[in-house]
Order: sequence, then structure tokens, then C-alpha cells
Amino acid sequence: MKLILSTAALAVGFAATGAVHAADAAKAAALIKGSDCMACHAEATKLVGPSYKDVAKKYDASHVDALVKKIKAGGSGAWGAVPMTPHPNLKDEDVKVIVEWILSLK
Ligand code: HEC
Repeated sequence: MKLILSTAALAVGFAATGAVHAADAAKAAALIKGSDCMACHAEATKLVGPSYKDVAKKYDASHVDALVKKIKAGGSGAWGAVPMTPHPNLKDEDVKVIVEWILSLK
């Protein structure tokens, strides 16, 4: 019984890390709408910047911190010469919610 319980706990743990919680997806969507991201990004189409699906294909969870820094600082080079504008006023934890949602789109 103990073994069954811990196996179940493990499965829940994997599910929780594998998929972004629905509440976080809603929060990410609200944060993106509240900022200027939509002016340059769409979920599945390249606009000024790469589509979020292309970003999700290129990176995994180990890149979350670097992507948070990139969104806050702006810059170019990863996708081409066109730079992303900096977003220094966004909170790290909010940008993290956005990045985790983007990476969940694969
Ligand atoms: C002025 C247009 C513009 C706006 C506004 C913008 N981006 Fe970008 N974004 C870009 C461009 C251009 C790139 C590609 C940069 C590069 O090649 O390194 C990019 C790249 C990215 C990447 C991938 C970074 C990498 O290093 O691969 C993410 C993630 C991202 N944007 C998220 C966001 C989010 C979230 C917002 C809103 C807070 C946002 N962007 C607002 C233009 C924009």
C-alpha cells in the first residue's frame, strides 16, 4: 500500500512539472495582453519576433532564467538582427510565468 501511494505521488509530481497549470496559463495570457508582446509575437505565426511555438521548440526548461533575462533586457542575435525591445519594468516572477507558458506550447 505504501508503495502504491508513493508511486501515485511520483506520477502526480511528473504531471505537475510536465504541464503548466491551467491557472498559470490564464495568468500568462493576461500578462502578455497587459504588456506589448502581442505587437511583435503571435502563438503560431512569425511577426516581428519568432512565434511562441518556435521559441518552445528551440528551448527547454533549463533556459527559463536566460529567457526571463532576455525579455527584460531585450536584444537580438538568437533569431536574427532585429532586436526585441527591453521590458525592465516587468517583475521577474511574472516574466517567468510567461516563459513557462510559452515553453509549454510544444
Ligand atoms: C518590438 C517587438 C517585440 C516586442 C514588443 C516583444 N518582443 Fe519578444 N522578440 C522580438 C524579437 C525581434 C525577438 C528575436 C530576438 C533575437 O533574435 O535574439 C524576440 C524574442 C523573444 C523570445 C526568444 C528570446 C531568445 O533569446 O530566443 C521570447 C521568449 C520573447 N521574445 C518573448 C517576448 C515577451 C514575453 C514579450 C512581452 C513582454 C515580448 N517578447 C515583446 C520582438 C519583440
